Amino acid sequence: MANAAVGDDVYRDDPSVLALEERTAELLGKEAALFVPSGSMGNQIAILCHTERGDEIIAGEGAHCAFYEAGAAAAWSGVQFAFAGKGGLFTADDVLAAIKPTAYYMPRTRLVAVENTHNRAGGRVFPQADVLAIAEVARAHGLALHLDGARLWNASVASGLPLASLAAPFDTVSLCFSKGLGAPVGSVLAGSAAAMTRALRFRKMLGGGMRQAGVLAAAAIYALDHHRGRIADDHVAARVIAEAMAGVAGAHVEPVETNIVNVDTPAVPADRVVQAARDRGVLIGASAPHRVRVVTHLDLTRDDLAWTAEALATALRDATAGAPAGGAA
Ligand SMILES: Cc1ncc(COP(=O)(O)O)c(C=O)c1O
Repeated sequence: MANAAVGDDVYRDDPSVLALEERTAELLGKEAALFVPSGSMGNQIAILCHTERGDEIIAGEGAHCAFYEAGAAAAWSGVQFAFAGKGGLFTADDVLAAIKPTAYYMPRTRLVAVENTHNRAGGRVFPQADVLAIAEVARAHGLALHLDGARLWNASVASGLPLASLAAPFDTVSLCFSKGLGAPVGSVLAGSAAAMTRALRFRKMLGGGMRQAGVLAAAAIYALDHHRGRIADDHVAARVIAEAMAGVAGAHVEPVETNIVNVDTPAVPADRVVQAARDRGVLIGASAPHRVRVVTHLDLTRDDLAWTAEALATALRDATAGAPAGGAA
């Protein structure tokens, strides 16, 4: 980062940013890409590009762009969401059921947003056959398609499909360097050259035009060069942790597909498990009152894996054992 060649990206002459954008566009099979500070900004710029005020977006339950972006789609684009399917993933039939009839008094369905992997669903990979069927329905109804691919790296490793194949059905794709790839900051939005010209203007409106951003792009380039190859390790680590936690009575561990483990703790508040894990030196999160979420990443080394899995299982066991008889406190 310290040695990065930099310019001024607001003038679009930062060589490191431009190199990262070009490389990412190629990886995704899109004409162009735009570096943005965060995945949230990438998603919100895409929504601004595809919609008008009063429009509706079809998305899966718990979609990040609806659930975790501070109501930005309502605030900046003036749109609302219709949720398709159950649990985050959905099918072409779910999209058909969610499309509003054309009438002046109804919201206009305009965009379908797919999240792959799906965060709240526990890092589940969106089946590509469903994506293709959804895209066909969307096209037939004149709807745009956005892929929230914050963890598309993980989806690619788990499915064995190249990033470009996963991205192909979509008009725009957002992708993060700051998650499993381990860069401190940064995401991209990719799509057609025309879409990225529009996106550049929205990026500026949202305050995402950065000057010597090459220092950040350099970290993302480093992550691409050095960290992509080890994403599979995170998936193995998640499975090891899931197996250890699955042995604890009173908790339900969801099947693991990538680097996220969701554990339901019906008998104890999730916060209690989070605190018990913290006491043993492992940081995890609560994603619902009775659900904890464990995410593996490159800072969890192979040497740390065994004791981490054991610590989490013990934390879960102790928190569950301390629960009052008959269920949640
Ligand atoms: C699926 C998904 N999309 C978008 C984002 C937003 O990324 P950022 O935190 O960089 O805004 C996240 C963050 O966790 C995410 O999980």
